Amino acid sequence: MASQRCIPFFLSLLLILVLLCIACTSQELGFCRAYIGYIKTVKDFMFQDSDLFTDLALVSTKTFDVDSFGAKGDGKKDDTKAFKKAWTEACSSTTTAVFNVAKNKKYLVTPIRFKGPCKASLTMQISGTILASTQQSKYKKDERHWLRVDKVENLLIEGGGVIDGNGDIWWSNSCKVNKTLPCKDAPTALTLYKCKTLMVNNLTIQNAQQIHVSFDNCENVQVSNLQVTSPKDSPNTDGIHVTHSQNITISSCVIGTGDDCISIVSGSKKIQARGITCGPGHGISIGSLGSKNSEAHVSDVIIDGAELTKTSNGVRIKTWQGGSGNASQITFQNINMKDVKNPIIIDQNYCDQSKSCKEQDSAVEIINVTYQNITGSSADKDAITFDCSKHHPCQGIVLQDINLTRENNDGTKAICNNVELTYVGTVIPRCPKDTIHDQPIFRTYSYH
Ligand SMILES: *[C@@H]1O[C@H](CO)[C@@H](O)[C@H](O)[C@H]1NC(C)=O
Ligand SMILES: *[C@@H]1O[C@H](CO)[C@@H](O)[C@H](O)[C@H]1NC(C)=O
Ligand SMILES: *[C@@H]1O[C@H](CO)[C@@H](O)[C@H](O)[C@H]1NC(C)=O
Ligand SMILES: *[C@@H]1O[C@H](CO)[C@@H](O)[C@H](O)[C@H]1NC(C)=O
Ligand SMILES: *[C@@H]1O[C@H](CO)[C@@H](O)[C@H](O)[C@H]1NC(C)=O
Ligand SMILES: *[C@@H]1O[C@H](CO)[C@@H](O)[C@H](O)[C@H]1NC(C)=O
Ligand SMILES: *[C@@H]1O[C@H](CO)[C@@H](O)[C@H](O)[C@H]1NC(C)=O
Repeated sequence: MASQRCIPFFLSLLLILVLLCIACTSQELGFCRAYIGYIKTVKDFMFQDSDLFTDLALVSTKTFDVDSFGAKGDGKKDDTKAFKKAWTEACSSTTTAVFNVAKNKKYLVTPIRFKGPCKASLTMQISGTILASTQQSKYKKDERHWLRVDKVENLLIEGGGVIDGNGDIWWSNSCKVNKTLPCKDAPTALTLYKCKTLMVNNLTIQNAQQIHVSFDNCENVQVSNLQVTSPKDSPNTDGIHVTHSQNITISSCVIGTGDDCISIVSGSKKIQARGITCGPGHGISIGSLGSKNSEAHVSDVIIDGAELTKTSNGVRIKTWQGGSGNASQITFQNINMKDVKNPIIIDQNYCDQSKSCKEQDSAVEIINVTYQNITGSSADKDAITFDCSKHHPCQGIVLQDINLTRENNDGTKAICNNVELTYVGTVIPRCPKDTIHDQPIFRTYSYH
């Protein structure tokens, strides 16, 4: 408690701090930080229960508001230049920086690359809406990305705002929607590329041109409280995509799009997802893997706690014929399905192209996959499908405490081709007797 007698001292400290702030803004800054450290020590000693000094110490954080770099935020004027300038300044700040996008405004922007490395840790505070320009000519230079953050470490992206890909025009130009058009990729709304120690929290990402958020070559990432939405008929609009990344935790996200809620593809390991609400969409996927005879590796994946509603798949592993490598150490657990087609599916004959895929001997192998405590309702009779490769059967598959039924109590069944399978506890439905090879019980794999 600051007693009466402390007040003059308190005021003089305040004065020193104000002078210090002036010094800080005009000079760079090593001594300044040390000084703030010193002030904090004084504060800790004098006023243990006051937050005032902590707040004042935050003067070492600088805010770069896109508005002060000329952004209008009226949803009409192109604010790209202001965003670029604000980013350049924020990224070269030697003290903690905040790149700020104000609340209750809508900023129209064309593709932007937020390039790192930056000099200090950084927050992108997105409280307003960032809306994608639909001017297709602006995407010529890089057709795969709209907002792309490159090689930034110690980054926090948050703020409760909206990233809107404004995707209609891209969807209607998709060959999946208009069969007369050639197939080509549309931009990913938000790409984190080669980022390390990254948190993405509390944002809405909607109507992406194609993928909503992609983690590409990233490490040590925490993703939470995202709301990811686009219409259920929007083509290839994956929610959260993970590629060539490791140590990624995705939690408490609500995802409903036209494609996979979460897709985890080659080069990814140590991926966890918890508390996922998914639907509409194509469910939670590992893959597709091994397209065009490629080598793929995915391992140490846990999907723990999910509710899927009216999706076209539940938990899926999909590989093309002709690939190599393996997907291993995968657990899907504590998942509830509501009216889901293909609640549990491994598809090693995946073929997402107009002409049929030819039969090939090689395959991305699928090894050690545990399904545990998966319940709820299947929209189709076939609640479990293991369509594995003839030459590379799925190995180490465990079904434990599974109960997938149909709304009308019609009974469900399992399709099981080339799978080495173990049952633990009650499993409904089970494979027809003659199709499975029993094997010793594999331990549930878990990654901590
Ligand atoms: C999200 O951010 C907004 C604005 O900062 C805040 O009001 C809200 O409480 C946050 N929500 C969560 C779940 O963190
Ligand atoms: C499909 O694309 C073609 C070629 O651009 C166009 O002429 C046609 O109107 C489009 N169809 C629809 C239904 O949009
Ligand atoms: C994984 O990432 C978290 C941050 O999200 C970090 O705290 C942890 O140390 C990382 N683990 C490893 C093994 O690098
Ligand atoms: C699976 O792939 C890993 C590389 O990710 C490799 O080290 C391992 O030998 C492969 N295992 C099998 C059984 O093919
Ligand atoms: C099984 O999963 C459901 C979610 O679908 C969860 O509520 C429940 O607690 C889990 N049961 C056990 C024994 O972990
Ligand atoms: C599969 O699990 C078994 C038993 O736990 C283990 O010995 C083997 O190394 C695992 N295979 C892969 C490819 O991870
Ligand atoms: C499986 O689920 C159905 C529908 O919820 C329920 O009626 C049935 O009792 C469950 N069976 C077991 C063995 O838990």
